[in-house]
Amino acid sequence: MWMADEEMLAGRPYRLKLGTQTASATIQAPKYQVNVNTLEHLAAKTLELNAIGVANLTTDRPIVFEPYADNRTLGGFILIDKITNATVAAGMIHFALRRSQNVHWQATDIGRETHASLKNQKAAVLWFTGLSGAGKSTIANIVERKLVRMNRHTFLLDGDNVRHGLNKDLGFTDADRVENIRRVGEVARLMTDAGLIVITAFISPFRAEREMVRQMMSPGEFIEVHIDTTLAEAERRDVKGLYAKARSGQLKNFTGIDSPYEAPEMPELRIDTTGLTPEEAADLIIAKLIP
Ligand code: ADX
Repeated sequence: MWMADEEMLAGRPYRLKLGTQTASATIQAPKYQVNVNTLEHLAAKTLELNAIGVANLTTDRPIVFEPYADNRTLGGFILIDKITNATVAAGMIHFALRRSQNVHWQATDIGRETHASLKNQKAAVLWFTGLSGAGKSTIANIVERKLVRMNRHTFLLDGDNVRHGLNKDLGFTDADRVENIRRVGEVARLMTDAGLIVITAFISPFRAEREMVRQMMSPGEFIEVHIDTTLAEAERRDVKGLYAKARSGQLKNFTGIDSPYEAPEMPELRIDTTGLTPEEAADLIIAKLIP
């Protein structure tokens, strides 16, 4: 049962509490929502305040539980928002999926350290976040060029480009942005396993998903770079003409206009693009990566 004003976001990790156990849990899109008056099953993409639904849930570690029908203490759980600490849902467990026991992690001989050391570098993620038009793609491109000139092995993941392929099924609702960043995080993680220095340029408007990606990486590997500019300045530049469209109502859910941007509270680096050239910004970022 969803208990928060903000709708449930599939793919976002919440803190799960079951008895004395805590885990991080993500919910998949509901299988269905239940009409509480008729018990009818309704199609649903999310759950809103007071909605009841059935969904698969994945925890980041095994937990001890019983079906709620057998044991209320070991079958009931709550979900807590990791950032606000508010309880957002209460749930009852039906059963474990068979795949939770049948899918194993396969150990491989060549590990991430080998991949990185063959390239004479340490893997890292330079995670750029900021408003559309802040300069993320421009600066990311220069950073990559400079790193390659220093013989570093890099890969640049750019929002607009990834949305042409892997994520072309996603739009700009909150739920789609969560899924966009979840997938990009997984791809970035694989690339760090391959020993690469990954540069990502996505608005990535939500703290929760940026934090989730940080947790996927080894300590020190994730460098959050806030490409910071005022909304007024981004709108003045309006390189793609999207702010004008958003203001005139032709484009819905535009970040900064009618969709939120949660600025990082403690990024490893904040770049104020109103006072720096893209070249200067790129140099600062590289100095942070390679002191
Ligand atoms: S994110 O919010 O999910 O991280 P992402 O970085 O992948 O966004 O994509 C942002 C790019 O999509 C922008 O640079 C812009 O060109 C384009 N875009 C199209 N519609 C929107 C919208 N409603 N909000 C923000 N960006 C949009």
